[in-house]
Amino acid sequence: MIILAFPDYLSQAQRLAKRLNAPLAEVSLHHFPDSESFIQLPSSLPEHVIVCRSLNQPNDKLIELLLCATTARELGVKRLTLVAPYLSYMRQDFANQPGVAVSQRIIGKMLANLFDDVLTVDPHLHRISSLDQAIPIKNAISLTAADEIGRFLKRKLDYALLLGPDSESEQWVATIANKIGFDYCIAQKERQGDKDIEMILPGNNFVNKTIVIIDDMASTGRTLGKAAELLQAAGAGDIYAVVTHPLFCDDAEAHILQAGIKAIWSTDSIDHPTSCIKLDALLANAIKAMI
Ligand code: R5P
Repeated sequence: MIILAFPDYLSQAQRLAKRLNAPLAEVSLHHFPDSESFIQLPSSLPEHVIVCRSLNQPNDKLIELLLCATTARELGVKRLTLVAPYLSYMRQDFANQPGVAVSQRIIGKMLANLFDDVLTVDPHLHRISSLDQAIPIKNAISLTAADEIGRFLKRKLDYALLLGPDSESEQWVATIANKIGFDYCIAQKERQGDKDIEMILPGNNFVNKTIVIIDDMASTGRTLGKAAELLQAAGAGDIYAVVTHPLFCDDAEAHILQAGIKAIWSTDSIDHPTSCIKLDALLANAIKAMI
């Protein structure tokens, strides 16, 4: 078995390889001036290869994954595992109008055709309950960072009220709250546009309370920003945020901090200055249980 790491996920893959006591090789990647991708794998590979790469900024990465998986098969690889802690294209899970591409199903099938196993963390599953409904293979493994996030929060704060910004977040917030004995509540959110959020806080008393907003990802940061704005208006004390996946597009991080959030913490599913919650033990245990 070998860990094959793309450059943007190298440090996390190195930690994973160390945990698994497995060798690591790097995929060599180049972008031509017209943005085509060139990739090169080691010319000799063992039977089992674990490809590691989170799929944020997905359009180039999915093509590069196709090139990588196809080349690995041509080199004789029998078992191909994808470790993609952040799995993109999971949010469009139904056709809300005729003609809309259900990207969750389409990208899911593409990954199922390329890989024998897919492991991910806190995927955005809303209208389906298990990952194999999106990626139809036996080993479509959905892990949760709830333990890691819970342990981290417990170390940082004696107590806080956890807030999920929308109904979809309840699955993560409730699990974390129950693990560490913190209370939680859930807001109602309606997205009017990419950067336009309407939200109603639940009826809790927030005055002078330490609040941690928990979500699976921050993309534009407008969800966390709106929640923080409303919490401040409701008299909250310190406000923090934890996300599994720090996508932080454009001005997201600045927007979140300007909205009054004291600190943002995230997992290392994507390399980012906020990525202080490491996932290598979670991923390594899941891989050991799978092989
Ligand atoms: C959506 O339902 C997700 O759980 C997140 O709340 C959302 O993707 C965050 O996006 P943004 O940072 O753009 O508000």
